[in-house]
Amino acid sequence: MVSPNGRTDSSPARGFASRAVHAGERAPKPDFTPTATPIYPTSSFFYDETETLDAVFGNEREGYVYTRYGNPTTRALETAVASLEGTEDAVAYASGMAAIHAAILHEVQAGSRVVAARDVYGATYAMLTKLFAQLGVQTTFVDILDLDALATTIREVKPALVAFETISNPLLRVPDIAAISRLAHAEGARLMVDNTFASPYLVNPVRHGADVVVHSTTKYLGGHGDVVGGVIATTRERAAALREEAKLTGPTLGPFEAWLTLRGIKTLPLRVRRQSESAARVAAWLADHPAVAKVNYPGRSDLGAAAGVFNDDLRGGMVSFEVADAGQAEIFRFFQALRLCVPATSLGDVYTLVLHPAMSSHRALTPEQRAEVGIGEGLVRLSIGIEDVEDITSDLDQALRAVNAHLSAAASASSAD
Ligand SMILES: Cc1ncc(COP(=O)(O)O)c(C=O)c1O
Repeated sequence: MVSPNGRTDSSPARGFASRAVHAGERAPKPDFTPTATPIYPTSSFFYDETETLDAVFGNEREGYVYTRYGNPTTRALETAVASLEGTEDAVAYASGMAAIHAAILHEVQAGSRVVAARDVYGATYAMLTKLFAQLGVQTTFVDILDLDALATTIREVKPALVAFETISNPLLRVPDIAAISRLAHAEGARLMVDNTFASPYLVNPVRHGADVVVHSTTKYLGGHGDVVGGVIATTRERAAALREEAKLTGPTLGPFEAWLTLRGIKTLPLRVRRQSESAARVAAWLADHPAVAKVNYPGRSDLGAAAGVFNDDLRGGMVSFEVADAGQAEIFRFFQALRLCVPATSLGDVYTLVLHPAMSSHRALTPEQRAEVGIGEGLVRLSIGIEDVEDITSDLDQALRAVNAHLSAAASASSAD
């Protein structure tokens, strides 16, 4: 068979190797449209007319020439995220960290200053203090809930960028995005918000003044724990510039990952509603549990400005709590005892995931630094999944009982000494 442009050739006149390479490929354009966007696993694209290829290369018309520059499956994901975040455009990246790196790099140059929340994700903290510091970009870390201190810092430092997360990790504090955006813009700074913990179903930072929204799509957007990715949602102009930069640095998301993420997004509202409702119930249940000293859940007045920030009354699927009198040994026992909840890094999955911040996300901090930000040895973070909520609480209950049995045995052993 030979396609109209003569480039699909399975003719027996061709040698075996030629047919092995070309036969069946580049079929004539169909007149049907697949309901779900296909995966385009191709590194390059060609056109019937070479002039068209030239125009696409020259950005004179839309199209695809090379997957590092863009790919139709990835583009479908970008279109979906921009729509959900209410931005003009979006650019997908190979991971959340690649997106955060690209977003910061675009805003700064040697000598620029950044003001960031003290409790940003550990890798973001390390990126700012190591990679960007090496480039001559200094970061001042602040308590992002203290607006008076933040205003003073922004006036003094005159940052190019202010950066924080919609819901902080692991204490689940919610900054007032609109107020911070006013402070940042008054001094000519841009505002970047990492919306990973909330997802665009719960919070749309651009509605409150953010210039750049980043996500680790590995989490709620993908939702199934089977793909790593990131995205920046922003203006058309900034997205175009980010794409040009990505052509040079190559942090592009592949089409397979884009397809999985796009598939995950279709059930985002269903999952996040279920996770939020279950998380609120788990938080209330934990607050009454005798083995629990403290519970953090967004929306509590001391945890920030949730009411004005969230799109409605859902507050997300993340909960953290302190096991009473627990040190590392008790938390390890708690993890070992779990039968349904999975003690694995990450969040936003359909599975309930359990994490020990002192062991994982905040390991690089000294115990004193952790204590200063309120992260003790007994703190546990939950990312509530979509299981039956009674199964989640009964699993947590039996694991907390195992900790209590351990504590009582230790207490009676020491009194016998
Ligand atoms: C808030 C937040 N931002 C960014 C990241 C980084 O995302 P990724 O692991 O996809 O690079 C994470 C990862 O846990 C995160 O929790």
